[in-house]
Amino acid sequence: MGLSKPKLFASLCREAAACRICPELADKTAVLSELNGTLEPRVMFVAEAPGRQGADRTRRPFYGDKSGENFQQLLDSIGLTREEIFITNAVMCSPRTETDANRKPTRGEIRNCSAFLRQMVELIDPPVIATLGSVALDAIKALEPHNLKLAADAGRPVEWFGRVLVPLYHPSPQVIAAQRGLAVQLEHFGRLSELI
Ligand code: URA
Repeated sequence: MGLSKPKLFASLCREAAACRICPELADKTAVLSELNGTLEPRVMFVAEAPGRQGADRTRRPFYGDKSGENFQQLLDSIGLTREEIFITNAVMCSPRTETDANRKPTRGEIRNCSAFLRQMVELIDPPVIATLGSVALDAIKALEPHNLKLAADAGRPVEWFGRVLVPLYHPSPQVIAAQRGLAVQLEHFGRLSELI
């Protein structure tokens, strides 16, 4: 008999914690533990990278910063609890600028982390994956190619990698203020709730 899902997950967490592949992230610790959520989620969310004030500090994705507050509001709007979901990121370590501000992960960093993302999806095997933002939507192409673009496909469920994928906007204050208002994100979460 093979190892149980929790044991395989614990082993993946240890491997991620020990990873030093990305030169600029070698002194960071991957955000991957039981704080990411349940191993039997109704939906797995894939976002961008742990934020300085959020997941990198609290070790809990989307917890401790404004993006986390917005994400919680979106979850609450469809009655989905943290106990029912799993959250991870395209890159599991927190990328920073020279002045220690959050920065977007590089293509190389996303590529380096994609083997972890693949193992997570294959192990947890969620029926539905929701990407949050264009970095995540691009990053999952490493698992199975797609031609989706957030501007055209946000909120539209599609078949992908043997399950349903729903591309969503990222709940950061910048995206909500500059690109897509909260009303649009609430509508897209409403569509997600019809699937789970
Ligand atoms: N932003 C992200 O993209 N991921 C997190 O985990 C937190 C904030």
